[in-house]
Amino acid sequence: MFLKQIPILIDNYVWMLVDSYGFCIIIDPGCSEEIIKTIEQNKWHPIAIFLTHNHIDHVSGVKNIIQYYSHSITVFGPDETKQHYVNTILKQGDKIVILNKTFEIFFTPGHTSGHITYYSFPYLFCGDTIFSGGCGRVYNNQYLEMYNSIKLISTFPNNTILCCAHEYTLLNLKFTMFFIPNDITIQLYFEKIKSRLKIGKSSLPSYLIFEKKINLFLRTDEFFLKKELGLSKFSSALEVFKELRIKKDFFWS
Ligand SMILES: [Fe+2]
Ligand SMILES: [Fe+2]
Repeated sequence: MFLKQIPILIDNYVWMLVDSYGFCIIIDPGCSEEIIKTIEQNKWHPIAIFLTHNHIDHVSGVKNIIQYYSHSITVFGPDETKQHYVNTILKQGDKIVILNKTFEIFFTPGHTSGHITYYSFPYLFCGDTIFSGGCGRVYNNQYLEMYNSIKLISTFPNNTILCCAHEYTLLNLKFTMFFIPNDITIQLYFEKIKSRLKIGKSSLPSYLIFEKKINLFLRTDEFFLKKELGLSKFSSALEVFKELRIKKDFFWS
């Protein structure tokens, strides 16, 4: 079993899990051409599509892929994605067995109200929930939901591999360094990622244990952040999270 990453659109990643016979799962196909091309070149056999949430850059490829493979693919997704040819609607606590692996489904709202995450150790297909050095944009004021989703992800085993759906790492780290300019781990990571991206490589996947050091959204209970964000010392981790996320929305340098 191995993990394949396909960059698509501007900064999306489609992840695939492929077994030794070439049977594969496609996660969040936001387009179809690159995916079908990769599958055909490698003579793989797609058997399932996993959808995390109903955003166009995660679901747009479903129709063409299932048509190309004569509907021999089972499409899994949360209720909010059901119009995208989903055969099996998933919810918190569901389990699916595929490619001899069991995937557990976790409800991780905040970015959308129905976002789900797929977990089969060591892989976590987390869509737009968490990114390296950051987290997904919060829509519809769902800060509490997103805070709880990130908290949930922090409880997974430290050696969990985070398969995030966007290449946002460099901007996330610039934002982080704005608050923590003197952290050597973050500085070294920033330089490493800058070099990797320069030669066309990816910053992902990432490891949860590492994110706990460099991702401020996993560190919202640390006292220094309250001061940096201009919040009272009595403010809660949720308030820190919300303030951090709002500041990130306006950080584009
Ligand atoms: Fe999204
Ligand atoms: Fe996205």
